[in-house]
Formats: sequence, C-alpha cells, structure tokens
Amino acid sequence: MRWRAASRAAVALAGAGTLAAGMALVLTAPAAAGTTLGASAAEKGRYFGTAVAGFKLSDSAYTTILNREFNMVTAENEMKIDATEPQQNRFSYGSAEQIVNHARSRGMQVRGHTLAWHAQQPSWMQGMSGTALRQAILNHVTQVATHFRGQIYSWDVVNEAFADGNSGGRRDSNLQRTGNDWIEAAFRAARAADPGAKLCYNDYNIDNWTWAKTQGVYNMVRDFKSRGVPIDCVGFQSHFNSDSPYVSNYRTTLSSFAALGVDVQITELDIEGAPANTYRSVVEDCLAVARCNGITVWGIRDSDSWRSYQSPLLFNNSGQKKPAYDAVLAALNSGTNPTTPPPTTTPPPTTPPPSDPPPTTPPPGQGDCSASVTVNQWNGGFVANVRVTAGSSALNGWTVTIDLPSGATVTNAWSADRSGNSGTTNFRNVSYNGQVAAGQSTEFGFQGTGTAGTLTPTCAPA
Ligand code: XIL
Repeated sequence: MRWRAASRAAVALAGAGTLAAGMALVLTAPAAAGTTLGASAAEKGRYFGTAVAGFKLSDSAYTTILNREFNMVTAENEMKIDATEPQQNRFSYGSAEQIVNHARSRGMQVRGHTLAWHAQQPSWMQGMSGTALRQAILNHVTQVATHFRGQIYSWDVVNEAFADGNSGGRRDSNLQRTGNDWIEAAFRAARAADPGAKLCYNDYNIDNWTWAKTQGVYNMVRDFKSRGVPIDCVGFQSHFNSDSPYVSNYRTTLSSFAALGVDVQITELDIEGAPANTYRSVVEDCLAVARCNGITVWGIRDSDSWRSYQSPLLFNNSGQKKPAYDAVLAALNSGTNPTTPPPTTTPPPTTPPPSDPPPTTPPPGQGDCSASVTVNQWNGGFVANVRVTAGSSALNGWTVTIDLPSGATVTNAWSADRSGNSGTTNFRNVSYNGQVAAGQSTEFGFQGTGTAGTLTPTCAPA
C-alpha cells in the first residue's frame, strides 16, 4: 500500500515536472510508472486484473507477480455458489475472504464472481426447481452481496445465461426454468444488497458482434436499460481459441454495448497460444472504448491456467514475461488517456442487430391481458416462451390458452401449470407470477415434440 501511494505521488510529480520544465523529465521519471500492467492501465484510467486461486497465495513466486503487476483481482472459484453456500443457508466465506483481504490490503480492487450461475452449484441447489429454487437463488444473491458489501468493485451477478449456437436465446438450466425473469430478479436483489457495486452480466462467446448469442445478450441489456432493471456493466469473458477466435469486430461489440449505457469489462481473458498481436489488439480495443473499465486475465502463469495446455497467458510456467506481456504493456503505454467525457447522447450501434427484432406485444385492453409467444423450433421439437402482459389494471392470476396443431405435444412447462398437452392447451399462473402490475409482464414457457407452427395465444384474467 505504502509504496503504491508513493509511486502515485511520483507520477503526479513527474506530470507537473513535464509541464513546468521538460528538461527535468529525466530526473523525475518515476520508477514504477508504465512498467507494470496495473500501473500502466491506471495511467489510462483503467485497471488490469487477474484471476487468483486462494491456495496459491502461499506460493511466493505467484504472489510476487500478483502483487507487482495487478490492481484488480477475481477469485477463480472461491466466490462461486458451491464455495459460498455449500449447505443451504450455511454460508462459508473463508477462502473468498482470504483473497479479498490479500487484494484490498495491497490496494487492489476485487471483482466478485459470481452470484448466480447454472454451473458450480452445490448439490442441494442442483436438485431444486420452481419457487423453492427461485427463493434460494435470490437469498444467495442477497446474503453474499450483503456479506461483501462495500468491498466489491463489480459483481458478476449472473454468469453464462445465454445459449450457444444460433438461437440467440437463453440457456436451459434449473434457474432458467424458474421463469425468464430470474435474471432481472437477481440484479434487483444484488442492487438492494450492495448499492455501491457495479452489477455486471458476464458471458463467453459474446465477443463476435455477428453471433446470435452476442445479439441475444445485447437485446437483453437494451431491454433492461429501457425498463430500469439495475444493470451497470457487461463482462466479456473473452476466452479466445480456434473455436471462438478474436475477431476485428470485437471493438464494435464493446462500443455497441457501451452505447446502451453500460460499462464494459474484459473479465477472463486468455488466448490460445498467447499471440502477442492478438493480445495487443484486445488492449487497443478496450482503450478505444471510453466505457471499457479494464481487463482481467484468467490466471498469471500458463501453469495457473484452466487451459494450461493452450499456454494462453502472459507469463510462462517459470513466471517469466512472454512476448504477449510486452505487447500488452506497450499497448497500455501508448494508448491515449480518455480525458474527454463519454458522449451524453449515445450513438446507435455501428451495425444493426442481425437477428430478428423481439416480437412486439399488442397493447392490451382495459382490465385485460395479452400474450405473445416466441418459438424456437428444431426438427421434431420446440421450445416456446410466452410473455403475459397486464392491461391497464393489475392481474391477480391469468390463464393463457394455446391451440396446438395436430402432431404437436407439450412435454413440460415451466412457470405455469398446464392442463392438457395437445390441441387446446391451458396454462395457468403459478404462485409467484400470478400478480402482474398494470402494464407489466411475466413469462412462462413450455417444451414439446412435433411442429408448433404459428401459435396464437389468448390471455384471460383469472
Ligand atoms: C473455471 C476455473 O478457472 C476452473 O478452476 C474451474 O475448475 C472451472 O471454472 N467461465 C467462468 C469461470 O466464468 O468461472 C470459469 O473458471 C471459466 C469459464
């Protein structure tokens, strides 16, 4: 802490010296400025972070690099659901706190990762569904965010909730089956618990602007911003490899999300083979976007990587700097400082979303409700998501009726009670989504075999 404060003062002095008398520069140039990833990023108003594994904090080769180079830390596994709530309502923060304390006592900040995720759930949660799971995950979000309140720079509130491939839709998971609004419910709970932390949605394969998954997340963030759901940032994991390579439209992706009014952060960067040019491009792309807060690499040495066989990081197994390190440092040092404030009116995204616009819900009549449906059809089966919107007075229960074409059979539904499974099929609200305020919406879904065709749902208040 002490030497960092001193080096910052030296930077300030050097700046003043440069202005007052250029000749003095050589004498006042600070030793630390521009020579480490964290210091160089800080000069550009950014951070440079790494994932940290708690059990490695006793490895001095590891902590030497950590403490020297980085000013942001993410717990690689220690803040995940299985680590923080191994038994329901019995929270365990020891290893997470070890990392938080290591970081904060040395002037580094902390990204929280992650409050809600389909993976690395404790077994008690894996077996849950419906209202019980919805309550459990919101309790988890509330408890963990409250515990670390004031200590977290930004939280990955929800991790990896979108599907890979061309659907652009949500990933199926036990959390998703509690209702499509589970993500916004998690963000609202996180905001209430720690109003000072930035709240991020975090995912992989959302780097390429033309990919359906990128557009799906973009549309969700746009929707959240338009409805006042508390979201502050999007995290791009950016695990680049031959299946998911860095592409030159990455900068367009970052700036398009930023134009929605959120910050963007590169949260888990690693690049197969660690090509110096690609690392340089990523840094340049972040620096080109005023709302790109910083970059986190997913580990320090190649041997620390979850994909160590790809040698994707900035330091080799012996802790020596690789060419990619030099490229990153040089790019940080040559970037311009974003002294101009971000524009107050946000420009539209550079390219229009390639995916279809979301279905428009017809305006409901007085004391009424309406329903709209989107269908994801594949050969032999489909998933339908239905949005129920209240009219000008609140709903206290609803029923949606859908006429299925012959050959289409519903196999399961979520967030609604179903009667019938073919032909005229009724879906009734469950306990937690029957009350819908005037003009507001809730969603349910169902899965089936056969071909859904064009479905026309009708909604009736209960
Ligand atoms: C990885 C960790 O690096 C591994 O140690 C663990 O076994 C699995 O998870 N996306 C994420 C991270 O959000 O949490 C994952 O971390 C990597 C992919």
